[in-house]
Amino acid sequence: MNETLTIRTTINGRKRTIDVAVNHTLLDVLRDDIDLTGTKECCVVGECGACTVIVDGRPMNSCLMLAVEIDGKEVTTVEGLELDGELSALQAAFLDESAAQCGFCIPGQLMSATALLAENPDPSVEEVQEGLAGNLCRCAGYEQITKAVLAAAKGVPR
Ligand code: FES
Ligand code: FES
Repeated sequence: MNETLTIRTTINGRKRTIDVAVNHTLLDVLRDDIDLTGTKECCVVGECGACTVIVDGRPMNSCLMLAVEIDGKEVTTVEGLELDGELSALQAAFLDESAAQCGFCIPGQLMSATALLAENPDPSVEEVQEGLAGNLCRCAGYEQITKAVLAAAKGVPR
């Protein structure tokens, strides 16, 4: 049986105390232990960005972090973007720009873009492309994704 540790963390604004296996990744724990399956599992070697979540304000590949590393930290997953049942402005812009095709990469794209806009609320096209460079889209929807991020940044009405 795996050794476990008890960690205290805040996930999507909710304080949690969780027993996690010391060798389980944050991705494992989010998806398998606390049913936050919006975060996607794909390459599990840090190359695709599908598993991106925000940890203390920074976008991180949750497949590369051990869950014990979030002890004392704040984590936001895609489930934490909506507020009172309303999509975030960024989520709404993704819808308006038809940025999601198969949709598999979109949670990770949204988390990287959310972190980007928090740090740089008025990015250039190049800054958006750079900010999302670690998020691959097999459907090649990069143009629509970039447009959606720029529209959200400019507060383009829905
Ligand atoms: S699943 Fe984590 S980077 Fe691909
Ligand atoms: S929308 Fe299909 S992988 Fe990006």
